[in-house]
Amino acid sequence: MSRTLIKHALEATAPMDAIFLQGWVRTRRDAKAFSFLELNDGSCLKGIQVIADAALPNYATEIAKAHTGASVEVRGKLVESKGQGQKWEVVASSLTILGEADATYPLQKKGHTMEFLREIAHLRPRSNLFGAVFRVRSRLAFAVDEFFQNKNFICVHTPIVTASDCEGAGELFRVSTLDPKNPPKNEHGDLDYTKDFFAKKTYLTVSGQLEAEIFATALSNVYTFGPTFRAENSNTSRHAAEFWMIEPEMAFCDLDGNMTLAEEFVKHLIRDAKTHCAADLEFFSKFVDKELLARLDFVLDRPFQRCSYTEAIEIIEQSGKAWEHPVKWGDNMQSEHERFLAEEHFKCPVTVYNYPRTLKPFYMRVNDDGRTVRAMDLLVPGIGEIIGGSQREERLDVLRENMAQHQLSEKEYWWYLDLRRYGTVPHAGFGLGFERMLMFVTGVANIRDVIPFARTPGTADF
Ligand code: 4AD
Ligand code: MG
Repeated sequence: MSRTLIKHALEATAPMDAIFLQGWVRTRRDAKAFSFLELNDGSCLKGIQVIADAALPNYATEIAKAHTGASVEVRGKLVESKGQGQKWEVVASSLTILGEADATYPLQKKGHTMEFLREIAHLRPRSNLFGAVFRVRSRLAFAVDEFFQNKNFICVHTPIVTASDCEGAGELFRVSTLDPKNPPKNEHGDLDYTKDFFAKKTYLTVSGQLEAEIFATALSNVYTFGPTFRAENSNTSRHAAEFWMIEPEMAFCDLDGNMTLAEEFVKHLIRDAKTHCAADLEFFSKFVDKELLARLDFVLDRPFQRCSYTEAIEIIEQSGKAWEHPVKWGDNMQSEHERFLAEEHFKCPVTVYNYPRTLKPFYMRVNDDGRTVRAMDLLVPGIGEIIGGSQREERLDVLRENMAQHQLSEKEYWWYLDLRRYGTVPHAGFGLGFERMLMFVTGVANIRDVIPFARTPGTADF
């Protein structure tokens, strides 16, 4: 007999004479003549109640040992429950323990801190909260592909090992097989990377954008969705050294079209989570962030605001607030400013565009004023930046000038320049940080808790 997922058992429309369930015991309560076990298999938030009669042959020897955390198999009948809060329950005709769990099982009690649960990241998926987080993560990964595939975007798997630094921020993890004890040196006494595995300096990618641009200038609309890496030593609740990014890239598209797609995409993901993960979102709104559902609805109901960087700096300067980091035109906005704009000033997601040229990477299109570029950052309440993107510089001469300003070698980026030499087109794209989006949708406050195993400065456990 094949297994029924608890999710499907709970959605049943009629009783079942025979049902087979497998899962883990969440709780056991004993009455005189039987025990109640709550069984969860991760297919949904709720568990199902199983009634094991004391007359079962292994009741005293096994079932009474079915402690929290034990894995079990249950055969029996699905019947209407007389108890409150559940429609269905299972009356067991047999209940086998596959793996016991004793009193040292760390997830006995509720109310563990998030910090403690990070230390047991191998067991936390068995908790209600993390089961919910990772079901939402899975669903939204699917929704990402669905969104772009339905719009005829072509998925491109860009490389993880690369020789280029797309963002130019120098936050690269080196990839090398050179012997650290006895590395080859060249005649200047420097490391000789021509002897390394790839015969040149290579890194883990910070972004798939440059390669996505190659494909966009052939296949028109493309996207990438994969892990990206930044050796950025910032220990914040929003930065991880390994995170997943979705990067659409569109030929024949300008900054305006880019902003419109970003808004549609973010709203699609929120709507999808509301439709397909309703019980999990309700759980978050009860136990993680009381405002969550209202905020998601609010965001869906309104157009995102748009505001130039120059206007944004004026708003910040005129706010009269005491800033930890005061800013003036030409400075990078800090998280306090980004959050002020989204949370207090606009009270809604806002796309800030046309940033100073000096703040942004070499590939962004220069505006006619010569001092700003067609960059955009989408800022959302509670988090700040979740999307960064731009219209790209498609003019060969301006791109070369930008590269010179950023001290990038034309020899190394010859292929990128070729895209402007042959059939260049206006094009644009952006990157959505998948974990930041998950934080926004779940209300979970720390990026370490929306990725299965967080990689942050000083930690790479599991
Ligand atoms: O703004 P970023 O650096 O943009 C790019 O990498 C562009 N190449 C994207 C493009 O145009 N195709 O990063 C994009 C997004 C950020 O808005 C943020 O959501 C996320 O990636 N991000 C991080 N998420 C977690 N941890 C980090 N250290 C992150 N750095 C960026
Ligand atoms: Mg950015």
